Amino acid sequence: MDQETFAAVDAFVEATIVPADDSLQDALDVAAAAGLPAIQVSPPQGRLLQILTRLQGAEKVLEFGTLGGYSTILLARALPGGGRVISLEANAEYAEVARGSIERAGLGEAVEIRVGPALEALPALEEEGAGPFDLTFIDADKVNTPNYFAWALDHSRPGSLIVADNVVRGGTLAETTSDDEATRAQRRLHEMIAVESRVTATTIQTVGGKGYDGFTIALVR
Ligand code: SAH
Ligand code: DHB
Ligand code: MG
Repeated sequence: MDQETFAAVDAFVEATIVPADDSLQDALDVAAAAGLPAIQVSPPQGRLLQILTRLQGAEKVLEFGTLGGYSTILLARALPGGGRVISLEANAEYAEVARGSIERAGLGEAVEIRVGPALEALPALEEEGAGPFDLTFIDADKVNTPNYFAWALDHSRPGSLIVADNVVRGGTLAETTSDDEATRAQRRLHEMIAVESRVTATTIQTVGGKGYDGFTIALVR
């Protein structure tokens, strides 16, 4: 089996049970036209995020890394009326693109994007008493995943979910001597979770149109 097969299966799944509607396709098209990198979650993984958000009955969602708003739209759509997503994005141009797509998707009321490095946005969230978040999706700069995870955990409730994307990184997660900072951060995330009594967690490896990666899901006790 190879990457071509993985991509073909994703394409089949997308064509059958995870079709894009006009708003999602618009978000992807506008992001591509604006030159944003196509590193959004895959449609099947996006659907999983929606299912998890629904299962949570989530009303407050925190996202690290908005990009063009693709995952943000999916998360926002999974909320009940009055639910809100706060999404943190370092790149002001990306945030502007995302805001447009979110607005056109009719989700302007449900989403707030805060521009700036996510770590710098956290003190204000803390001060406002934002949270506890029912679900946190960590998908920004990978070196900070452990920092975002620690903050999310402190701003969760029993039963909250924390999902971190891109933790497997082509399998480099298993390399004890990787000198890649992003990979080392994912190993550190696992070491943190290993001694963290507040969560039950697992990591699932994935293949698909976007290659070989995986995500960690942590349920807060
Ligand atoms: N969640 C998006 C994809 C996010 S890609 C989706 O699935 O649709 C990662 C994003 O994190 C990029 O937009 C990048 O600009 C942003 N990012 C990088 N460093 C960041 C930081 N320090 N704080 C917040 N966002 C950051
Ligand atoms: C990449 C993929 C992602 O899902 C992401 O959040 C950031 C970067 C990548 O393939 O480079
Ligand atoms: Mg990602």
